[in-house]
Amino acid sequence: MSEATLKAKRLAYVRVSAPDLTKAEKFLDEFGLQVAARTENAVYLRGTDPEPPCYVLTQGNGGVTAIAFEADRIADLEAIAQIEGASAIETLDGPAGGQVVRLRDPQGMQVEIVHGRTALDALEPAPAHVFNMNGQQQREGELPAIHRGPSRVRRIGHLVLESASPGIVYGWYNRHLGLQTSDAVRLPDGEAQMIFSRLDRGQEYVDHHVVGFQFAMDEGARVQHVAFEVGNLDDLMSGHEHLKRKRHKHVWGIGRHLLGGQIFDYWKSPFGVIHEHWTDTDLVNQEHEAQECGVADVNDYWGPGPGPGFIVSRWNFKVFKNIARILRARSTAS
Ligand SMILES: [Fe+2]
Repeated sequence: MSEATLKAKRLAYVRVSAPDLTKAEKFLDEFGLQVAARTENAVYLRGTDPEPPCYVLTQGNGGVTAIAFEADRIADLEAIAQIEGASAIETLDGPAGGQVVRLRDPQGMQVEIVHGRTALDALEPAPAHVFNMNGQQQREGELPAIHRGPSRVRRIGHLVLESASPGIVYGWYNRHLGLQTSDAVRLPDGEAQMIFSRLDRGQEYVDHHVVGFQFAMDEGARVQHVAFEVGNLDDLMSGHEHLKRKRHKHVWGIGRHLLGGQIFDYWKSPFGVIHEHWTDTDLVNQEHEAQECGVADVNDYWGPGPGPGFIVSRWNFKVFKNIARILRARSTAS
């Protein structure tokens, strides 16, 4: 197999537009991101980890307008700049500096490959404490350390790209950024419903997925959700209560995923983008053997199933066509 153009180091940031920046920023503050810098055109937000800002908020219609990956070296930017349609290496706007190559993936999403951004100082993480489990008393004479209010988001973790052809889109990321399949879920007729992919960092353990490639029921193309790691379980639960008190729209959770293993909680921003809090992901490396399973086999460890608000990003006649197609394939398979 030929080598990828480069092997992405990490998911760097998302660019998200919103028609009402004040409202959007309020949601992000209540979600647990913190403002790192402001410019005339954008608000740059970060987690408590020292990585440069992971979220760029700009004025616009509402939606994710670009996704960015960090490269290990400038030679990686030189390599990807050779791809047809890619920009030359340019100076990256924004407070962290660095350089960027911009290009589009097969579903039309703007992808930015960046290098040389300056790290920040870490911020205070969520408080943490040990748990008494299975009769083992590990927290004797100590109160739990719990912060009330927004979760303390640590970092951006993954996102899900949905389209009518997730297999083709995955192929592009595999070829150019080195993403590898961790697990895949198939529709009854054999097409990919979801391909979970991870960074290729060899023996180093990485999150089970950095990008999920999902079949869009409406056959549209978009970022279906963006996910952020929070400090720990109590931090996730505190953040859940806070978002509930602030009357934000809860979409799915709380539960623990079967594929990926995270404890998850999904919220929709006022501008229509699903934002996930998660903690405690599965970590895998190149020894991981990808599993293939059918949609009916994916039952999370615990928690409610997803509702239509999570499964369908936009209702159109294709949604009904695809539901019928899945049901038909299921009935012929059984
Ligand atoms: Fe997720």
